[in-house]
Amino acid sequence: MEKPKLIINGKRLDGRDFEELRPIKIQVDVLKRADGSCYLEMGKNKIIAAVYGPREVHPRHLQDPSKAVIRYRYNMAPFSVEERKKPGPDRRSIEISKVSREALEPVIMKELFPRSGIDVFVEVLQADAGTRTACLNAASVALIDAGVMMKGIITSVAVAKVDGHIVLDPMKEEDFYGEADLPVAFLIRNDKIESIALLQMDGKMSVDEVKEGIKLAKKGAMQIYKLQREAIMKKYMEDEEKEEV
Ligand code: CDP
Repeated sequence: MEKPKLIINGKRLDGRDFEELRPIKIQVDVLKRADGSCYLEMGKNKIIAAVYGPREVHPRHLQDPSKAVIRYRYNMAPFSVEERKKPGPDRRSIEISKVSREALEPVIMKELFPRSGIDVFVEVLQADAGTRTACLNAASVALIDAGVMMKGIITSVAVAKVDGHIVLDPMKEEDFYGEADLPVAFLIRNDKIESIALLQMDGKMSVDEVKEGIKLAKKGAMQIYKLQREAIMKKYMEDEEKEEV
């Protein structure tokens, strides 16, 4: 198929400005059986995250006597994409699970839970590009909901180069037909971006464009962080109200 025009009259195909995120919705504690959970929408992406633990690790030989073992499973539902995705892990989901776990590990205070395991499951119910970033945002909130001790929070968003412009939070058409896609995750501590926890790129950007992209991703991440915080606070306020009754 021929590449469509992605920027028309200075706007993106869905009407967004270059520096605009898709609408985000975050709901905490949506699964009663999980220790922590989160439902998150980022544009047309719909994600469920469930956290179990800290709990006993099975099989036992995976236990670490000095710290908790973190496991992260990213999975796309077969109905989440246009062309049915074959169920089960594939190379892409194994890679996304690995890099996402590595992004989360430094914020989790693993040393506090020796021999135990923390399992993070993220399920993509509907995908529209940026699922790894949306999943990380949901996973971070679910970890906090589970009461896992954290040094900060991971907040993630992608930027892209689209028809020569650097744009925030690309949707599927932009990811597919754009010149480059650059997902980033930040470690935010005390309301400030402290470091980069994940940085990937496919396509081509100049060094200056990458710098510009990271700057834009930082702006986007701070907006997402605010929404993550609000969702967590809302849940705790509701819990307190219930206790008062
Ligand atoms: O989702 P994310 O941007 O993190 O990863 P990607 O590998 O760059 O995939 C971009 C998008 O392609 C996904 O979000 C889906 O919308 C779509 N996709 C698909 O339609 N079928 C697949 N098997 C994998 C991805």
